[in-house]
Amino acid sequence: MCGIVGYVGYRNSQDILISGLRKLEYRGYDSAGVAVFTNAGLEVKKAKGRLAVLESHLEERPLNGGIGIGHTRWATHGKPSDVNSHPHTDTSSKFSVVHNGIIENYLELKEELAAAGAKFVSETDTEVISHLIASLYEGDIVKAVQKAVKRMRGAFALGVLTEHEPEKLVAVRLASPLIIGVGEGENFIGSDIPAILEYTRNVYILNDGEMAVLTKNDVTLMTMEGNVISREMFHVDWDLVTAEKAGFDSFMLKEIHEQPKAYRDTMGSRIADGRVVLKEIGLSADQLKQVERVHIVACGTAYHAGLVGKSVIEKLVRIPVETDVASEYRYRDPIITPNTLVIVVSQSGETADTLAALREAKRCGARVLAITNVVGSSVAREADDVITTWAGPEIAVASTKAYTSQLIAFYLFGLYMAQELGIRDSAYIAEVIAALEQLPEQVQAILERAEDMKVYAEQVAKHNSLFFIGRGLDYAVALEGSLKLKEISYIHSEAYAAGELKHGTLALIEDDIPVIALATQGELIEKTVSNIKEVTARGGYVYGFVFEGDEGEMAKSVNHVFAIPRTLPLLAPALSVIPLQLLSYYASLARGNDVDKPRNLAKSVTVE
Ligand code: M6R
Repeated sequence: MCGIVGYVGYRNSQDILISGLRKLEYRGYDSAGVAVFTNAGLEVKKAKGRLAVLESHLEERPLNGGIGIGHTRWATHGKPSDVNSHPHTDTSSKFSVVHNGIIENYLELKEELAAAGAKFVSETDTEVISHLIASLYEGDIVKAVQKAVKRMRGAFALGVLTEHEPEKLVAVRLASPLIIGVGEGENFIGSDIPAILEYTRNVYILNDGEMAVLTKNDVTLMTMEGNVISREMFHVDWDLVTAEKAGFDSFMLKEIHEQPKAYRDTMGSRIADGRVVLKEIGLSADQLKQVERVHIVACGTAYHAGLVGKSVIEKLVRIPVETDVASEYRYRDPIITPNTLVIVVSQSGETADTLAALREAKRCGARVLAITNVVGSSVAREADDVITTWAGPEIAVASTKAYTSQLIAFYLFGLYMAQELGIRDSAYIAEVIAALEQLPEQVQAILERAEDMKVYAEQVAKHNSLFFIGRGLDYAVALEGSLKLKEISYIHSEAYAAGELKHGTLALIEDDIPVIALATQGELIEKTVSNIKEVTARGGYVYGFVFEGDEGEMAKSVNHVFAIPRTLPLLAPALSVIPLQLLSYYASLARGNDVDKPRNLAKSVTVE
């Protein structure tokens, strides 16, 4: 989704803006632009396409100046084009704005401003903001922005400059993420920490409804009413190198390979002496006893982790769990009581639908536990309890290490509940923990056989459609495997509960159609094999994924078998998804796609 960078200081802002925007490329975008105060005034350069296009314009004619704002746009209102790109200016070109989010009442404001003489040039909602601020300006940019924000409905983060006060950069946050970087004689704004990490590790995270006024030597945080806020600075202790490719061809491949570490880090000190220790959550055994049902709410891949979470909690704790897609949850009038524990899952912690579901759950009196990868994210700050997944920054749009770390978080939480409530005895808990602790090495063993997946992927990449099937937890992983493949290879695929194929979808199986079949779930394996036979009998070309030791038997029913190290069936998703991630990765490569930045998608989806 859109990325914002802003700079005020002693360096040439154009360079800082471009380098910051490059760090935000992972969010997904279709155009980019910058506005800089030069000797000639407030100058804007913007272009549809990749950052390289904008850079080539800037090479021809650089914008030199110490204060500027930059933006990568992911189109919502109006197609990707030069004119719809940000920054947007007002009719006098004295005010310039970059924006992430949506202004819901922009048409109403546009009519009003146009009637008063504003000349609109783009189809965007953002342009309204620059005209609105200009119309409210009476010699104080901070007051003009505050008045404008009061007139705007929606979710947004803004960076604002005006030629009238060329030393100030104004930042606003209302439901879209924005951080402030604090340097020596220079200050920054950014949609995300990597945008500014090259220059400073000292950061303020703006909360909803807050703004900041930056000059080169000062940062003032305030409410929209102008009340100054004092806040402790956040020191970023992770490295930019962690957020860079480290020799891999893509962020996705790097992140796939980081999974053994992500598993270890997420388990970390949360396991001691055969028990789970979750010091960070404030739920006492008494409070856990009150939990009558669990709702898990998330989007996309995080939702798929939630499907695994449902089976894990139901199996270990024996309480009912429902998993919902966040964009549906609050509109389906869910039954939420004070005894409902709502678990929201989000890598970024900024996904608009997930955040809205969290707020709805809290409004209904539920306790909310967040599983998120970003410390200080909106989800982390608004939830009652947080389990942080220590996967490290995930840059590729396709989620890999964040998904598997979410699975680890669910295993830990399920075990913790079962242990604290005395539902499972200590021997059982210790057995699952021992199996959990083996997972990192087992993942490593799969990664060492990545070439096998390359071979499968090159075959699969020749097809335009395929199926993923499985039963129980294998079905949950099939859904994730299918999403991953669609997202980066653009090959159509569907995931089916293996037993459900014969109720309609089997009609689509024809000669050579690839079918990825997962069969790791104990007593369900035989049943899955029957479903596989239904497929091969109709010409389907099946790739089977089983535990080591089962490959001989499976080989009789499928065209290829890939064996993963054996673990408990409950933990199988944490292993069986790894070859599917690799399959998608290599299929995407085989088709010549941009693996890290698939078309039409954004890393962090901050609009509903
Ligand atoms: O940041 P979140 O986990 O809340 O993101 C949710 C989805 O947008 C995300 O998982 C998406 O489905 C991934 N791109 C899939 O790889």
